Amino acid sequence: MIRIAHISDIHFGRISHPTIVDALIRDINRAGVDLVVVSGDLTQRAFGHQFRAVRRMLDAFDAPTLVVPGNHDVFPWWRLFSRLFDPLRRYEKIITPDLAPHVELPGVVVQGINSAFGWTVQGGRITEKELQQIRDGFSTTPEGAFRILVVHHHLAELEQLGDHDISKGAEKAFRTTHEMKVDLILCGHLHISHVAHVSIHNGAKPIVIATSGTSTSSRGRGSDPAANFFNLIEITKANSTIVELRFNPEKRGFFQHATHTLPRY
Ligand SMILES: [Fe+2]
Ligand SMILES: [Fe+2]
Repeated sequence: MIRIAHISDIHFGRISHPTIVDALIRDINRAGVDLVVVSGDLTQRAFGHQFRAVRRMLDAFDAPTLVVPGNHDVFPWWRLFSRLFDPLRRYEKIITPDLAPHVELPGVVVQGINSAFGWTVQGGRITEKELQQIRDGFSTTPEGAFRILVVHHHLAELEQLGDHDISKGAEKAFRTTHEMKVDLILCGHLHISHVAHVSIHNGAKPIVIATSGTSTSSRGRGSDPAANFFNLIEITKANSTIVELRFNPEKRGFFQHATHTLPRY
């Protein structure tokens, strides 16, 4: 079995509870995961001290991490020159210079892409470069392996979530994930914990889209804006599950909130 923790929208600078970061690290380490995926918005304002706090958090996980940036990780508007010409400089220096991280685990391949740019609005953008990274990421994946794409912004509209941001270029990107037989997309940005099955057309294999809620910030949205979540994904040959875990401030820990079984095709 492969176990992956999926956290998102950490937003250092707007942490919701004084004990939540330590609880997140402790509970993920206790779960004995093989990989920690972070789907962007690590900071609130892309300040150096916020990225350094993220670095300390990432280093505290026992498992390796796979991280992609979010729109809050590019320089803010008042640093316009940096925002336009070197938007992810601090992210690349302190977190990772790799904007297309790739991890292979037994029976599981995980590919990350960047959707956050200085010259786009907060909804994100997927360019031809990222489409090629998706193709390259899964081009040699053996048949039957479980394929996961990690991206901060959404590539499809989820009716249940009402009006929400979708990346520019999302349609092409979603088509590419379908062509590359991606099983699961891990994303964030909306600050709502949600799992959906989306088909590109009738009869096509559905792609599961797991949106992590904000794991540690006070910026939650939806019907339960004070809640913090992360996902625990368990993948076996027979079946796979996503468990949404929710933070309980009184008990200072994350507890099972909902479980989803993933289809096997
Ligand atoms: Fe966010
Ligand atoms: Fe975001």
